[in-house]
Amino acid sequence: MPKPNRETMLIVDFGSQVTQLIARRYREAGIYCEIRPYQRAGEEFADGSCRPKAAILSGGPGSAADKGCPKIPQAILDSGIPLFGICYGQQILMAQLGGTVETGAHREFGRARISALPAHEDDPLFDGFLASGREDVWMSHGDRVSSAALGFSVIARSPNAPMAIVADSRRRYYGVQFHPEVHHTPNGARLLRNFAKIAGFSFDWSMSSFRDEAIANIRNQVGSERIVCGLSGGVDSSVTALLVHEAVGSQLTCLFVDHGLLRQGEAEDVPGMFKRHYNIAIEVIDARELFLSRLECVDDPEAKRKIIGELFIDVFQERAKLLGNAGFLAQGTLYPDVIESISVSGGPSSTIKSHHNVGGLPEAMNLEIVEPLRSLFKDEVRKLGRELGLPDSFVNRHPFPGPGLAIRCPGTVTRAKLDILRQADAVFIDQIRSHGLYDEIWQAFAALLPVKSVGVMGDARTYEYTCVLRAVTSVDGMTADYYPFGHRFLSETANRIINEVPGLNRVVYDITSKPPGTIEWE
Ligand code: XMP
Repeated sequence: MPKPNRETMLIVDFGSQVTQLIARRYREAGIYCEIRPYQRAGEEFADGSCRPKAAILSGGPGSAADKGCPKIPQAILDSGIPLFGICYGQQILMAQLGGTVETGAHREFGRARISALPAHEDDPLFDGFLASGREDVWMSHGDRVSSAALGFSVIARSPNAPMAIVADSRRRYYGVQFHPEVHHTPNGARLLRNFAKIAGFSFDWSMSSFRDEAIANIRNQVGSERIVCGLSGGVDSSVTALLVHEAVGSQLTCLFVDHGLLRQGEAEDVPGMFKRHYNIAIEVIDARELFLSRLECVDDPEAKRKIIGELFIDVFQERAKLLGNAGFLAQGTLYPDVIESISVSGGPSSTIKSHHNVGGLPEAMNLEIVEPLRSLFKDEVRKLGRELGLPDSFVNRHPFPGPGLAIRCPGTVTRAKLDILRQADAVFIDQIRSHGLYDEIWQAFAALLPVKSVGVMGDARTYEYTCVLRAVTSVDGMTADYYPFGHRFLSETANRIINEVPGLNRVVYDITSKPPGTIEWE
């Protein structure tokens, strides 16, 4: 939880799919914030481990008209801190303070236009918002407030939402029917900032303050013990290793595990690259046989992820013992890994995939986990990497998942399939680099489908595997779109792959966005 002396915006999560966007909007504005599921926020508030300056009440799928609906913890209401409810957050705030919410009759999804009520045009919440008297906003609700709680006035409305914004400026309580955090409310970030201004925030949180705090926290947690760090060479684990090294110096040993699921040349290139730039102890562990034999005949995506996660921990624990009983393991877990594996800190959103460094951890473990990046998005980690002086060759590397090629090989994983996949992937990345597209693309890779099809090569029938190419643009991996390669690039790449990689006779390009797809195939 936040340190008591750091200005923190608490986001009470009622299960909205876009809660994390609220956090992004505030961090972009220089405000530190943390998301807590509504069930836990109350306890932490009551026992003093959470002392935020103000709180946002998120949207959510519940209905404030239901008896057993998720509630704002009483400790938060009693604390007197400023509150800002969004959609469900507005409705439950009204319901708990004595207003009423009507259900179902006025569903509204999509764009709407709100206007300020004349007596409230100068409200400090409207500084730079509703400047022309009107503002486009995004609505997504089934219920709506039918009468505001005592002390509240309606300060903005739309034809369908007579209580688009309600305010009790004495208590600094606000409620909005729409979603200011989403892209489709173009000026919504301004509204969120105005609330923070009213709550007295000083907007001085930055990546360099994050860095200093992260280093201090690691020092506190690890003390004088030894620590190992799983290093894959990706930006997340590299930044983690640098932070830990800055915190505890030679107590750190990085472990690079070759699990047989790496890309072409990676087992040699990554440790070499790291050793060239840093004076940090790094051990290379050849665990190919261990991982590949345990994955034999396993075709279920979640089972693969769990096996790989557990084996990583086994390897780390064994090495930690040999290294004079290291007591800690540092991992580059990111915020989206946490959200998609267990939902936000145990909050109410659903599990998509067990990310290997979160969902795959065994119950009994001798190592205490250190995860300094757990609250950051990928683009924020890159910013932090630059702040730490990490060379561009690390900072700009495309993400590569911990379970490696195993999740790019739907179905069972064999050495023969991995060989084919490695070669196809290398040709694809080579094409992307030689066309100067690497830095424009967020992530690109080949996957090998467990599908054989008939082809014809040199007048002979072939019956070989299909390779799918995936390249996406994204900001943080939470949403993504396919990269619009030209036809010439695609046909040249397909030609090269078929000609240079034995075992393939068909290449397809994946044009699915996320959502509904995910970036990886498993
Ligand atoms: P998805 O496939 O969920 O991926 O859209 C989003 C981003 O996360 C990466 N990814 C992982 N990274 N361990 C990781 O370290 C994992 O288990 C894992 N699964 C997916 C994926 O490559 C993409 O960048």
